[in-house]
Amino acid sequence: MPAPAPSVPLAVVVLAAGLGKRTKVSTPKVLLPLCGRTLLGTVLDTVRELQPERTVVVLHHGKAEVEKALAGRTDLTLVDQGEPRGTGHAVRVAAEALGGFHGEVLVVYGDCPLITATTLGELRKARRAAGGKRPAAAAVVTAFPDDPSGLGRILRDAEGEFTGIREEKDCSPEERELDEINAGFYCFASEALFAALPRLSDQNAQREYYLTDVLGILARERAGIATLVVPDAREVQGVNSLRELALARELMQERILVGHLANGVLIEDPNTTYIDHGVRIGRDTRILPCTVIRAGCAIGAHCEVGPFAHLRAGTVLEDGAEIGNFVEVKKSVVGAGTKAKHLTYLGDAVIGARANIGAGTITANYDGRAKHETRIGDGAFVGSGTVLVAPSEMGPQSMTGAGAVVTRNTRIEAGEVYVGVPARALPGRKRRGDEAAKGGS
Ligand code: UD1
Ligand code: CA
Repeated sequence: MPAPAPSVPLAVVVLAAGLGKRTKVSTPKVLLPLCGRTLLGTVLDTVRELQPERTVVVLHHGKAEVEKALAGRTDLTLVDQGEPRGTGHAVRVAAEALGGFHGEVLVVYGDCPLITATTLGELRKARRAAGGKRPAAAAVVTAFPDDPSGLGRILRDAEGEFTGIREEKDCSPEERELDEINAGFYCFASEALFAALPRLSDQNAQREYYLTDVLGILARERAGIATLVVPDAREVQGVNSLRELALARELMQERILVGHLANGVLIEDPNTTYIDHGVRIGRDTRILPCTVIRAGCAIGAHCEVGPFAHLRAGTVLEDGAEIGNFVEVKKSVVGAGTKAKHLTYLGDAVIGARANIGAGTITANYDGRAKHETRIGDGAFVGSGTVLVAPSEMGPQSMTGAGAVVTRNTRIEAGEVYVGVPARALPGRKRRGDEAAKGGS
């Protein structure tokens, strides 16, 4: 067996200092949401899969907000670019932070969230293999999108060899016709990158230091530039406007749903189903149309969710739980086999197994100042239209009558039946085991 290739140390530079003024919203562009993560968070999760030795994030506009969003990420080095003067300038600042790093430097933009770790891995391989010759100084991802407007164009000579990248604003009319674009992902040999960066100039249409010119400089020196074409240009789509954010979201959503379908989750209508990144869903669970499942939910096997259900962060559905139409669940545990099928709000609730939550049940979890918990025991039967003012508790097999308002700090003992407004125990009436066993819907 051939000895494994010695692994080259990897540093990643993520550019996120730009203003993003084309989005026209106050949120810094890289913090815009994409299926439960931010654009930047998505890119950082992807590059983490490559297990880099160092990851440098270049910030400036919206710095305080971005830093806050990245709090606790001790694996990252955050650097302030100062007034952004172009992608080349940004990488120069990152190079200082990398000090004497020796190895491969991968540069990605914080506004291109759809790239996969697989493609970035192929980019690294493309540089090292470089047509069987010695490793190239750099490798760059290119694509052929339907509409290349606004993007840098790949320049090639008569033999098809890469010669450089021209930003659209600097293109001649002929160059503008080129349909191969720079996707914005680069892998450099660190020495080649660090040697070329000081040589960038800002003599161009935007008076910026372009990172893309590093590739032209290296190509002129015959240092070797490998290119990797991605077959689906949507993977390298950047987000510069809210329209592009919506397109990126659509593709990310499709990937997430396809992943669940492949794992045995029955999604009746992917077109109207919204599931954020990172939601765990067990096999044989059915997700019915017009359902929204936010990041931070975990759903067991053999559950049913929807149609028209809304599961928010912190929701746990244990195996066989059923959440029906117009039911919202937030930060709650719904025990195995428990049903809440109609018009209900469950927030900050801990519900046992095989309970029946009647139509129109509300856990009134917020008193205007703080959120409080509601506990509902195994086999409990919550009558239609019950309001449970938190904190309050229903014991196992206990029951409320339709329209009961259970006031705060009430504790309904096991098997007890409460009715009325405010709800009071029905004296002498205990719910029998066989009554409790019958499931309703
Ligand atoms: C860039 C490329 C272009 C490519 C396109 C792909 C350059 C010069 N051009 O253009 O060839 O087709 O991406 O999406 O690189 N940033 C900084 N500091 C700066 C400038 C930018 O951190 O001084 C960050 C931005 O926040 C953004 C990223 O770099 O995340 C790309 O910058 P942007 O201005 O969007 O470049 P494009 O014009 O899209
Ligand atoms: Ca961009």
